[in-house]
Amino acid sequence: GFLPTAAVAGRDLLQVIKDNSKNAVIFYGSQTGTAEDYASKLSKELSSRFGLKTMTVDFADYDFDNFADITSDTLCFFLMATYGEGEPTDNANEFYEWLFNEADSLSTLSYTVFGLGNSTYEFYNKVGKDLDAKFEEKGAERFSPYGEGDDGTGTLDEDFLTWKDNVFDSLKNNLNFEEHELTYEPGLKLEESDFLTIEDESVSQGEPDKSYITGSSDLTKGPFDNTHPYLAPITKTRELFTSKDRSCVHVEFDISGSNLRYTTGDHVAIWPSNANETIATFVKAFGLEQKLDTVFDLKALDSTIHLPFPTPISYGAVIRHHLEITGPISRQFLLSISAFAPGAEAKKEVTRLGNDKQAFADEVTTKKLNIADALLLISGGKPWSAVPFEFVIESVSHLQPRYYSISSSSLTEKTTINVTAVVEAEEAGDRFVTGVVTNLLKNVEVEQNHTPFKPAVTYDLEGPRGKYSKFKLPIHVRRSTFKLPTNPSAPVILIGPGTGVAPLRGFVRERVQQKKAGTPIGKTVLFFGCRRENEDYLYREEWPQYAKELGSSFEIHTAFSRETDKKVYVQHKILEQSSKINKLLEDGAFIYVCGDASRMARDVQASLAKVLANERGIAEDKAADLLRSYKVQNRYQEDVW
Ligand code: FAD
Ligand code: 2AM
Repeated sequence: GFLPTAAVAGRDLLQVIKDNSKNAVIFYGSQTGTAEDYASKLSKELSSRFGLKTMTVDFADYDFDNFADITSDTLCFFLMATYGEGEPTDNANEFYEWLFNEADSLSTLSYTVFGLGNSTYEFYNKVGKDLDAKFEEKGAERFSPYGEGDDGTGTLDEDFLTWKDNVFDSLKNNLNFEEHELTYEPGLKLEESDFLTIEDESVSQGEPDKSYITGSSDLTKGPFDNTHPYLAPITKTRELFTSKDRSCVHVEFDISGSNLRYTTGDHVAIWPSNANETIATFVKAFGLEQKLDTVFDLKALDSTIHLPFPTPISYGAVIRHHLEITGPISRQFLLSISAFAPGAEAKKEVTRLGNDKQAFADEVTTKKLNIADALLLISGGKPWSAVPFEFVIESVSHLQPRYYSISSSSLTEKTTINVTAVVEAEEAGDRFVTGVVTNLLKNVEVEQNHTPFKPAVTYDLEGPRGKYSKFKLPIHVRRSTFKLPTNPSAPVILIGPGTGVAPLRGFVRERVQQKKAGTPIGKTVLFFGCRRENEDYLYREEWPQYAKELGSSFEIHTAFSRETDKKVYVQHKILEQSSKINKLLEDGAFIYVCGDASRMARDVQASLAKVLANERGIAEDKAADLLRSYKVQNRYQEDVW
């Protein structure tokens, strides 16, 4: 019972627009799903409020050779995330290349751009800005102003709403569209089955993709990517902290049974499923207790709409494996769900919170409520049973894999991927605010090692058809640009407090192995920081081993931030080692910084500028320029999140 998706509809964008009589196209460049989410919400709203015939477009699904033939009666919206060092997202790469290298005039294009970025990174919203400027340069017409949002300050949602308001104004005032009230127009139709049960072979139990259900392809063969993961056995887990209330787990995935491979410094993506407790609250909030094992099929009401997961499937499997139900809720979501409120009072309350920015911030965001928490609070505990499940599927974000810097070396661990993950669990009154993947990993650790520890939330570790049993999780690898110098005799300065040490451990293991093989190895100077030596000093017992192997060419400098009255951070230790660092840089050292992007990476960069300024007697802004030039030359690399 599948209708064709866009991929089947063809790769000729203009043809698809024409065949489906569309006049508004929302393109998205998305890495972690946020831009994609915004695109589908915008698409629905433009259709409902302005009667536009909308479609969303994943750049990866189309060819662009006739892009220039798009005419101005098709309004084009571009939601563009910037990734890493000012790069486009994977799915937008080809379009970007085409636009910047091949495109001619775009004089019939009518467009507006919203950039999604993070101001803690150097190239803030570069992709959105570049695209907007390039379109202008090619003669396209901007029908509504460029806008951008900042994920670093947590204002992304509000920034998007501001941009969207401008778009609506332009549509009304300049393009003479009439605005109507927002109503829900489903893009999917759900049909419950009278005969299928969750046990039927054809029914998805939450498998990551269709091939897991049909057995149509060899699951040990790639390519493994964000549409098709490898179900990797977890052979070993270990708690790395000694404190009772915080956890950091070391996890080893065995990839020997597959053709999945990585190189040192790459990222591994772990595919999550939800915790039992979070699921229970969500089910209660929507009154779905009796529906969990009911199987349904989904039809796309328009051939440009993708089915979001394999079907037929049960309500329970969708909630456990496909919906992002743990994280924060948006004001936009409250407004869109208000039509289905259980009673007048709940409707009034949900509308108030949806419209009042400040109230929403105070009463929902700062309390870290998830969807179910917020809805139950708003309705005084009454279930929101009138919400169509199609709406839930279309409006709640879909679970996305989480990325981890691989902490092993592909030289020493060819077929094992190590992960070092700090467990996110924070008490908030009578509940816990938890991270999905890290608590899942902690549950595996507790089960595997029979640890006497009670995790904040629990999981079904069996997974679909028990396939996840014996501790398996779906993973794929993403290549990164965070790499050791090609010449092993170049010195390296490694800076990674907390879990930032993960890929640096991989680097050190790599250099140990190279040394063993007789290769001359340059100096390796590691700066590590944590709270207390006896509490969260990651891989504490391993460093002396590496020091033994590498001899005097290895040094570790530690900063323990909570052992004295004064905070001691890695950047303080860097300043203490000024002359050594300067000398290493003169000898061609590479710098690697990994971990927290919000403050640490910036503070470290400032301290390195100080080092250069002091040691070389140059002005600090000159020193900062020098560091930036190192970045351009890849002699200063960051892996920060
Ligand atoms: P999520 O479910 O994604 O939640 C994120 C945060 O939100 C958590 O702190 C959670 O407690 C909080 N939260 C949950 N619900 C709410 C709510 N309702 N309101 C507000 N807040 C809420 N991490 C590592 O530990 N080690 C690494 O080596 C590592 N490498 C990375 C490399 C890259 C390139 C990137 C991008 C990230 C890396 N991370 C790493 C971070 C990692 O990807 C995850 O973001 C992190 O582990 C949290 O994932 P989670 O699923 O447990 O939490
Ligand atoms: P703190 O939590 O005591 O402030 C790993 O998280 C280590 O990084 C901890 O010791 C933490 O200290 C420290 N840290 C926090 N903010 C930092 C910053 N801006 N620069 C460097 N290290 C920081």
